[in-house]
Amino acid sequence: MKLTVVGTGYVGLVSGACFAELGNDVICVDIDQEKIAGLKDGVMPIYEPGLKEIVDRNYEHGNLKFTTSLEAGVKESDIIFIAVGTPSQEDGGADLSAVKAVAQDIAQYINGYKIVIDKSTVPVGTGDWVEELIEQQQEADYDFDVVSCPEFLREGSAVADTMHPDRVIIGTESKKAADILDELHQPFEAPILHTDRYSAEMIKYAANAFLATKISFINEIANICERTGGDVAEVAKGIGTDHRISDKFLRAGVGFGGACFPKDTKAITKTAQERGYDFKVVNSVVEANKLQKQTLVKKLKREVPNLAGQTISVLGLAFKPNTDDMREAPSRTIIKQLLEAGAQVKAYDPIAMEEAQGIFADDIQYCKNAYDAIEDTAAVILVTEWDEFQDLDLDRVAELLTNPIFIDGRNCYDVEEMKKRGFTYYSVGRPA
Ligand code: UGA
Repeated sequence: MKLTVVGTGYVGLVSGACFAELGNDVICVDIDQEKIAGLKDGVMPIYEPGLKEIVDRNYEHGNLKFTTSLEAGVKESDIIFIAVGTPSQEDGGADLSAVKAVAQDIAQYINGYKIVIDKSTVPVGTGDWVEELIEQQQEADYDFDVVSCPEFLREGSAVADTMHPDRVIIGTESKKAADILDELHQPFEAPILHTDRYSAEMIKYAANAFLATKISFINEIANICERTGGDVAEVAKGIGTDHRISDKFLRAGVGFGGACFPKDTKAITKTAQERGYDFKVVNSVVEANKLQKQTLVKKLKREVPNLAGQTISVLGLAFKPNTDDMREAPSRTIIKQLLEAGAQVKAYDPIAMEEAQGIFADDIQYCKNAYDAIEDTAAVILVTEWDEFQDLDLDRVAELLTNPIFIDGRNCYDVEEMKKRGFTYYSVGRPA
């Protein structure tokens, strides 16, 4: 099939590359000329395992093309995915200006029957106004359908998630569009759920809000375990074996970050509020997450009450392993707290150093590796559970620190082992 994907961010680029890999002819469109030029030269705008290989292969093969011309994208394809960004506005709502601009362009260049798919996370009802806008602004009277097919990929495993989805959601009342999209999605060999457009749009928010709720829930159980005794990992295992609960997304830690959960939880509470409904559960999830990001520095302050003039090392800056994405990363809250308390920060992340320099500039010291970051600091705070941090030479770490204080935001180490090696060790939801 001939497809166009507008927006070469995480969702757009990965979806486009995967559809090409499955044998479709795909045009990826972006207004960012530099990004498009880079992609043609094999430069990926994001760090994502396995992506470069499939982009390069399909680009060379000729069934994956990159262009800044939305006109070509609209005219040459039957199916157009809108996968542009929908960032948070200050009031928590989603900024839909990019979606609107694409819809206007589609209206301008439409030259036959098209299926227009909202793949970006957009508030319920967006499909309605995209449809109205194209209807009103197109000069001829071409038939088209607007469908909601939300994406559920995770950063860091985006290619695998896209190729092997748990399910595909097709939100449309149009039989014609549903049949074509069924055929397009068959090769994924995943259950396909047909539903109306409103439900499809809501499914995406409900999924992310529910997953975020699981995380805040287990983080709060962890905080209570710290006060009562008990090990949150044991509790998670104990409740997770109940298949109604499941053990996925029950890892207590330093709070969720990234481009999606923080944005989508705020957006759904905002949508509810606009309709006169107070979404109490998810409001609390957002609040609990904000507080969770502050817990590591609180623990540090128990050992080092006055941080002024102290140097602290921070391991892991990306919001999670296998990505360089630092949007809403807990490391940002932690570094801000440390700097405000007058401490100096030495930081290291396997991939996100360049990203971090754009954010912290000269405010912190950037280090070559974990040991370089730890050397001569008063304590280490582990924020992101990169594999390489789980295999640190702990004796060397203890020697390099001026105080053997280790604050582990991801429960990477065994409590007894850390004690034996002489660390003052704090983790999340386990005995101190
Ligand atoms: C999330 C969803 O998992 C995807 O299904 C969805 O498509 C995506 O948002 C989106 O809306 O685009 P992502 O943000 O890439 O994906 O990352 P996750 O792997 O879900 O992790 C989110 C955050 O939760 C991270 O900060 C992670 O450290 C944290 N987390 C996750 C925990 O603290 N504990 C857990 O058990 C799991």
